[in-house]
Parts: sequence; C-alpha cells; structure tokens
Amino acid sequence: MTDTPVTLAAADGQAARLPQKSDAPLALRGLTVSYGEKPAVFSVDATFPAAQMTAIIGPNGAGKSTLLKAALGVIPRLSGDVTSFGEPVDAARARIAYVPQRASVDWDFPTTVIDVVMMGLYRQVGLLGRFTGRLKSRALSCLDRVGMGGFADRQIGQLSGGQQQRVFLARALAQDADLYLLDEPFAGVDAATERAIIDVLKSLKAEGKSVVCVHHDLATVRDYFDHVFMINVRKIAEGPVETTFTSEALNATYGGRLAATHIDQLRLAEGA
Ligand SMILES: Nc1ncnc2c1ncn2[C@@H]1O[C@H](COP(=O)(O)OP(=O)(O)OP(=O)(O)O)[C@@H](O)[C@H]1O
Ligand SMILES: [Mg+2]
Repeated sequence: MTDTPVTLAAADGQAARLPQKSDAPLALRGLTVSYGEKPAVFSVDATFPAAQMTAIIGPNGAGKSTLLKAALGVIPRLSGDVTSFGEPVDAARARIAYVPQRASVDWDFPTTVIDVVMMGLYRQVGLLGRFTGRLKSRALSCLDRVGMGGFADRQIGQLSGGQQQRVFLARALAQDADLYLLDEPFAGVDAATERAIIDVLKSLKAEGKSVVCVHHDLATVRDYFDHVFMINVRKIAEGPVETTFTSEALNATYGGRLAATHIDQLRLAEGA
C-alpha cells in the first residue's frame, strides 16, 4: 500500500475530512478475508457501538464467524484494519471475551467444567496465581450466574449442548471483559437456557459492557438487540435495529430467499 497523505487542504480552503479514528469497542475498516481464491468477507467496514447489544445477521456461509475470527486475529486478514477501544485490536485483547460457535469446539477434550471456566481467568493468573482458592471461587460464581454451579466437577464432554453453551458463557464472564463476542450463543438451546443467556447478556449491557452476537433467529432481533449488522460476504447494512432491520435489507442479505410471509411476521422497522 502506498502512503498517500490524508491531510490535504481542500480547494475551498477547508481541511479535507480525515478518516475518523474510532473509539468503539470494535471497528473494522476494509476487512477482507479469504480462505482460497474467493473472499469469505470482502471489504467490510463496521462499527460495533459501546454499551449496546449488536446482532450479526446473515445466511449460512455469509462470513459471520470468519469476520469475528479475523477481527480477533484468530485467522489472518488479507487486508483491513481492526481497532478496539481506539487501539489496535491486539493491544486490547485483554478487554475482549470470545465465545466460538459451538460446533467448532472439540468437546471430547478431557477437562472439567470448573477448569474450562478457570481458563478464562488465565490473564489474571499472574496476579492471582498464588491464590488458587480465589480463582476457583471466582470461577464458581460465574458458573452460578449461568445456573451451572452444580456442575463444576463434571467432564465438559458429559454436558448437554445447552449446558456446554452456558459453561462457555461463564468462561467469558470470568474474563471480566468490556466487549463480549458470541458466535451463535442461542444455537440449539431450549427456551429456558435462551432466557438465562439473554438475561446474563442484558445484565452485561446494564453494566456498560458491549455485546456482539452472531444470531440466526430473526424473530427475536427486535426484542434482544439494539443494533444490527447484516452481511453476505459484503456488508449489507448496519445501524439501529429500529431503522435498519427492514425487509429491503433482509431481502438483500438473504438474496430474496426468505418467504414474504416469513418477513411479514417479523416486526420490522417502520415503513419497511
Ligand atoms: N477453514 C476454512 N477453510 C476454507 N473455507 C472456509 C473455512 N471456514 C469457513 N470457510 C468458508 O468461508 C465461508 C464463510 O464461512 P463462515 O464460517 O464465516 O460462515 P458463517 O456466516 O459463520 O456461516 P454459519 O451461519 O453456517 O455459521 C463459507 O463459504 C465457508 O465454507
Ligand atoms: Mg458461523
């Protein structure tokens, strides 16, 4: 890339606009990711706002998980800048908790529930390493918060899918992050677990934390989320749910594959 100067005085004497540096919990500029020849995520700009709940919406294979993983540096970016709280994302890693898509985790890994949650505390081990008891009680209180306090000594592979999802949320809570990125936290969970998870996420928001979820259930977008980001390889739309979650945006995102009756049942943005 060439170094073109960005501060040029415009012809009318006014300073040309600089690209604004974002202090948002997560901001992507020109993010492109490719596993092969065709990009899975192409030239995406996004700003995920502070102290809000954001849904990432898009069909299977749209690049939602890829976007999160590349933003975190778990997989390489072909191009683009990612900042978190105004810093390069690597510098802000300690402020970000990530819960991967459940299908991508090896559940046969022989470890107990409490150990999985304590892994979330590894950054504090330097401070608290000598106080294993304190780490453990912290991990247990996170398990309690997701209703899994009674399962601490169970092998993680011996839990149901919904219970595993709760344990991974507990691990993210243990990190005490400022930004929570969750890839399909409600996939395959029953109504009670969904309620438990959304209550925890809403309480995080009430504490001023930012939450971003990959989400498939279009019927709950309005109830659960403030902000929406719609993607199908490229960004389709982003903004407040009230104004952005429209039938036009949904049709563009899903390529017209959603039935009109289904769209009618969603409480979409006014005038959509
Ligand atoms: N490790 C990989 N190697 C090659 N291609 C991949 C890899 N991971 C994902 N892809 C491809 O990249 C594209 C985006 O995948 P991604 O997992 O990001 O989609 P998604 O939006 O999260 O979908 P889903 O809703 O099914 O979870 C898909 O076409 C997928 O086949
Ligand atoms: Mg995915």
